[in-house]
Amino acid sequence: MGLAAMVAQQGDSRTMTTRILTGITTTGTPHLGNYAGAIRPAIVASRDSDADSFYFLADYHALIKCDDPLRIQRSRLEIAATWLACGLDIERVTFYRQSDIPEIPELTWLLTCVAGKGLLNRAHAYKASVDKNLAEGEDADAGVTMGLFSYPVLMAADILMFNANKVPVGRDQIQHVEMARDIGQRFNHLFGAGREYFVAPEALIEESVATLPGLDGRKMSKSYDNTIPLFGSAKQLRDAVNRIVTDSRAPGEPKDADSAHLFTLFQAFASAEQAAAFRADLAGGLAWGEAKQRLFELLDGELAQAREHYNALMQKPGEIEDMLQAGALKARRIATPFLGELREAVGLRSFREQVQVAGAGKKKAVKAARFVSFREQDGSFRFRFLSAEGEELLLSRPFADPKAVGVVTARLLAQGADALELRADEGAQFTLWLDGECVADSPAHATPEALEAAMLRLRAAVAALAE
Ligand code: TRP
Repeated sequence: MGLAAMVAQQGDSRTMTTRILTGITTTGTPHLGNYAGAIRPAIVASRDSDADSFYFLADYHALIKCDDPLRIQRSRLEIAATWLACGLDIERVTFYRQSDIPEIPELTWLLTCVAGKGLLNRAHAYKASVDKNLAEGEDADAGVTMGLFSYPVLMAADILMFNANKVPVGRDQIQHVEMARDIGQRFNHLFGAGREYFVAPEALIEESVATLPGLDGRKMSKSYDNTIPLFGSAKQLRDAVNRIVTDSRAPGEPKDADSAHLFTLFQAFASAEQAAAFRADLAGGLAWGEAKQRLFELLDGELAQAREHYNALMQKPGEIEDMLQAGALKARRIATPFLGELREAVGLRSFREQVQVAGAGKKKAVKAARFVSFREQDGSFRFRFLSAEGEELLLSRPFADPKAVGVVTARLLAQGADALELRADEGAQFTLWLDGECVADSPAHATPEALEAAMLRLRAAVAALAE
């Protein structure tokens, strides 16, 4: 089953889109195993109309494992070019670099303050380092940075920042997704006052995706030095294929496809008919040299066009930069206002509103309705008016400067609830007017009764706050 089909099968996607998010740590150069195991299935999944996909270069994570700036820089570029060359459609998906989203490290801190140290002590990557140190008679934390220790919190911020429902990852990352869920739920519990700021993400493991064997038959991995390059030259591809280890059966001797990892590699890229024909020919005594030639042709056919695209992109890094900047803008249209709400939730609020709320009496301060102002990506300022329960009652129109927000909110309170000028339009919304100018809109409501009730709630909230 494809990734997209799995998402659909796991439900909750009938009416709503499912947000899929995954990060790629930028330390290496992608090889054929990465392509079959992660890149190809992700790109296929992103074409599903129910999917709202977020893919990003986890370059802050890369810094945890690598202190070679040149390697970091080269890997980010190569990985970006690889995904684009393989057909990622940046109009459809949101494709960005983690390090272009300053809201992510900011959220990391908010989450760090609710994540239990005991929880992080149990993270596999950290535990493996500790076990290794102890086995070698070293101090338990020798060589362990805070980056490594806090790795799951940064990853939780990646996931929770965009409220991802499904997170496609390898098995080694399941624990991190579960930690993200724990940390998000804890935040909701502490600060949500009934509101679920964060949805609970789930790891998505694609069973059917090929784990490719490398040249020597072990899992293809850079750490085994047994990889086949993805976008090397055709000659490099041919040389790698020629180095695939086979048994010593001579040409003419029957060969068993199932015990040959060369066949496993072939099958990952072939149609069912091609694989069946290859299997039959091996059984009929096809020479290994000939078999390698066929595998080379198959791979070259699959990759040649993307390789050309890749090489063209690598010649124009400025264009890749532009695409990633556009992706960051798109991502921050979600991240910036959401982080504003989270700051608000934990008590990092403007003093301008504090004066109003304090006027309502200290005890009430926590539970009162409130104005939340935030800055839009285009530099303008807006506010939301939230009820004590956290319901959004109004979203303002944009203002050029933050002072205007303060002036408008102060005047609304000074006017009092009954004087608020609300206009219900034909549709499902109402608007708020001040001096003949529309200053804010309500959310959409399903029925005229719901609209009426929302107006009453707004007046009640303003009245309570203005007291
Ligand atoms: N840690 C992941 C890995 O090494 C990469 C990653 C970082 C990630 N942030 C993420 C994956 C968020 C999914 C979601 O594979």
